[in-house]
Amino acid sequence: MARRDRTEKVDMPRAKLSRQSIRKGLQLFSYIGSNKWKFYLGLFFLAGTGATALAFPTMIGEILKAADADWSQLVKWGWIILGVFVAQTVFSYFRIYLFVDVTERMLEAIRKATYENMIKLNMSYLTQRRAGELSSRISADISQIQDTFTTNIAEFLRQTIIIIGGIILLFTTSVKLALAMLIIIPPLAILTVIFGYFVRKKSKGVQDQVADSNTIVDETLQGIHNVKAFANEYYEVFRYGKSTGEVRKKAIQVGRMRAAFASFIIFGLFGGIVALIFYGAYLKQQGLMEYGDLVQFMLYTVFVGGSIGGIAEQYNQIQKTLGATDRVLELLNEDAELVDMDGDRRKSYPRFRGSFQFEKVEFAYPSRPEVTVLKGVSLEAKAGEKIALVGQSGSGKTTLSSLLFRFYDPQSGSIKIDGKDIREYPLTYLRSQMAIVPQDVVLFGGSIRENILYGKPEASEEEIIEAAKKANAWNFISQFPEGLDAIVGDRGIKLSGGQRQRIAIARAILKDPSILILDEATSSLDSESEALVQEALEKLMKGRTSLVIAHRLSTIRNADHILVLQDGEIHESGTHEQLITRENGIYKKLNSMQSDVLIS
Ligand SMILES: Nc1ncnc2c1ncn2[C@@H]1O[C@H](COP(=O)(O)OP(=O)(O)O)[C@@H](O)[C@H]1O
Ligand SMILES: [Mg+2]
Repeated sequence: MARRDRTEKVDMPRAKLSRQSIRKGLQLFSYIGSNKWKFYLGLFFLAGTGATALAFPTMIGEILKAADADWSQLVKWGWIILGVFVAQTVFSYFRIYLFVDVTERMLEAIRKATYENMIKLNMSYLTQRRAGELSSRISADISQIQDTFTTNIAEFLRQTIIIIGGIILLFTTSVKLALAMLIIIPPLAILTVIFGYFVRKKSKGVQDQVADSNTIVDETLQGIHNVKAFANEYYEVFRYGKSTGEVRKKAIQVGRMRAAFASFIIFGLFGGIVALIFYGAYLKQQGLMEYGDLVQFMLYTVFVGGSIGGIAEQYNQIQKTLGATDRVLELLNEDAELVDMDGDRRKSYPRFRGSFQFEKVEFAYPSRPEVTVLKGVSLEAKAGEKIALVGQSGSGKTTLSSLLFRFYDPQSGSIKIDGKDIREYPLTYLRSQMAIVPQDVVLFGGSIRENILYGKPEASEEEIIEAAKKANAWNFISQFPEGLDAIVGDRGIKLSGGQRQRIAIARAILKDPSILILDEATSSLDSESEALVQEALEKLMKGRTSLVIAHRLSTIRNADHILVLQDGEIHESGTHEQLITRENGIYKKLNSMQSDVLIS
């Protein structure tokens, strides 16, 4: 996992360092809140570490000069050096500690804010993006920001201090030598950076190629049935061979570049330094320079050169962080749904009577505006009625129920509950009055108790058990040694579809909604658990308005109305008795088809 994070960081797109992107970066700073002083104090210590680092070559030079002078000079410089080291130790400690402290507090605030905003975003935003993309904003982007705020900014500033301070000190040490240095070293350092950049880019190409050929291995292993069934082993071996050949070619190319790079460093960079030393030695011979100054000078040169090389990488990281910041801010600034974040408020809402009505509802998903899923659907359910919706898969049944929850708003027409347009209710109120039992229940990783409590967080133990009993779930729950505290999900016990369904029903019973939606709740169950679930559902539907979406018509015979949805329109409606007598009726046909299946 850690390795994947790193490769993700390598791939992170960068943003240009512009006034706008810097302003955005500063916007993140506002999340530091009352801890700004710590950041400024950290900057002070940072300047301290830069200054003490710069003092280092001078100290070495002075010691060497003192070696030629008397003992007291040497002792004096010994104490100074000790003092500088102590100072540097303290500075470094506080600079790192303070930056981490500030950054972690800032990140906590950003993480919370992005998550809070993300979970409140409307469905069309959330479903148009892959879940992985959004969660990577909270993990990869934020860890990029973390690295930059704890390390890269500090290093960038420290190295800037060293470069500027170092060059000034070079000139104060020896103007002639400094001028010679400026002609030789910076161009070489820049060339090194550029050269290094190309080598890295090429290496990345090799990595990608390796990944490509690994994909072939993965694909063929996953689809090994197909490979063998089609007797295509030879073809896959050929494909893989071609890809590994490509890897070899690119890797050797990179190898050649790296060899040239190494030669360049040895000849160019070391050669440059040696040339400089040569010139310095010449100046000393001429009596124009002291030996201590020469060493001091060379050390500054190495410092400045190293910082010029290092600052490029910091700059690169900061650009990536600006890109990450952009994405995080986009999420932070995206318009969220107006959900009520005060969990207790729902208790005070008056209960819906539970009638609902669709009037000429037309709807297309925002992600696919050209496909009209519902083309003017009208239907009505009186309070306490059981309405059934049947129709081929893909006819828009689930879509219709999503509209009732206001996951999406229709493009035209209206949806009313208790005679009032649903857009007039606060979202939290609206949704607090409804519950859905879907076909495939996904439970949260956690205990059964937590999963049932999701319907009513403040429910008592008795209420939970009663709900579980009504949902026909208590029987199997009480058989687990841990009972309600048994953990479900990836790391816990695996529940069958019917068991998960019954937990979802218990959850809905606790929520006690006035409108209930069953979206093919029993469709994927075997007949034994279907009977248990169906019985629980019948209890759940009592005293509420329910919209039952069903595949198996046997479960909806007693509905007050049955609606047949086809091609985005309601084609037939009526009771079971009315619909099966309809000549050429869709329902009649569906019904006889299913009876045939049952008989055969
Ligand atoms: N989130 C979505 N974005 C775009 N199109 C969707 C989405 N969900 C469903 N659809 C499309 O809307 C149509 C109706 O789907 P759905 O309501 O799930 O049908 P049903 O529940 O009747 O099987 C289908 O054509 C489906 O491809
Ligand atoms: Mg569906």
